[in-house]
Amino acid sequence: MERLQKIIAESGYCSRRKAEELIKSGKVKVNNTIVTELGTKADYNDYIEVEGNPLSKKEDKVYYLLNKPRGVVASATDDKGRKTVVDLIKTDKRIYPVGRLDYDTTGLILLTNDGELTNFLIHPKNNIEKVYVAKIKGLITKEDLKKLCNGVLIDGKKTSKSKAKILKIDKKNNSSVVELIIHEGRNHQVKKMFESIGYDVLKLKRESIAFLTLDGVKSGEYRSLSIKEVKKMYGEKND
Ligand code: URA
Repeated sequence: MERLQKIIAESGYCSRRKAEELIKSGKVKVNNTIVTELGTKADYNDYIEVEGNPLSKKEDKVYYLLNKPRGVVASATDDKGRKTVVDLIKTDKRIYPVGRLDYDTTGLILLTNDGELTNFLIHPKNNIEKVYVAKIKGLITKEDLKKLCNGVLIDGKKTSKSKAKILKIDKKNNSSVVELIIHEGRNHQVKKMFESIGYDVLKLKRESIAFLTLDGVKSGEYRSLSIKEVKKMYGEKND
C-alpha cells in the first residue's frame, strides 16, 4: 500500500503536489469511490481514476546488456522481418535498444523500457564514453590516427576529440586493428570517421559503454543490469 498522491505522481500523470490538490477537490476515485482524504493509501493494483482518466500503471523498469551478434537489427521491430535485438531477450516488457549498432556491427548494446536513462545516455552533452574496436583495410599510420583523435569532418560537421590506439598491424593481410574511444553517437560514426581518412571498416565491435563491458557475456547472450549499475550510469557524465 502506498499514499495515493505518490501512486498518481509515479504514474507520470502530474506532480505529487498537484495530485494532492486533485484528491482534496474530489477529482480522484479509487475503485469507483471518490477519495478526498490526503493520507489515504491505495494499492498499485487498485483501479484509480483521476479527473475521469484511468491511471496507467507504472511499469517496472528493466535493463539488459546484450552482446549483439552480427546480422541482427538494433531496433525494436524490422519492416523486412529480420531478427532484432529485442527478439534475443526474454521479457514481457516493451523494451527497445538505447542508440544503434549497425546490422553488421557486434558488441555491447543496452535495452530498456526506461526513457529517462535512454535520454541520459544518448544526449551528447553527457559525453558518455564508448569504446570500439575496428578492423580496417590497409596499414594505418600514426599521422592518420592523430587526425582521427583531433576530429574529422563527417556529414559536414567535425567530430569531437577522440582517443585511438593501434592494436595490430597485419602486413600480410593488409589490415589493421584500431581501438577508438568516442563520446558521441552519430549515425555510422566510426565507419564514417575511418572512411574520411581513407580506410574501409571490415569489422566493428563495441567493447564498452561507460564502465559497462562485455565481460562474461558471450555473443548472443545478455544479462540484466543491477540497480547499482543503473544509478552509477548517471554519475558517468563527462564534462
Ligand atoms: N559506428 C558505426 O559506424 N557503426 C556502428 O554500428 C556503431 C558506431
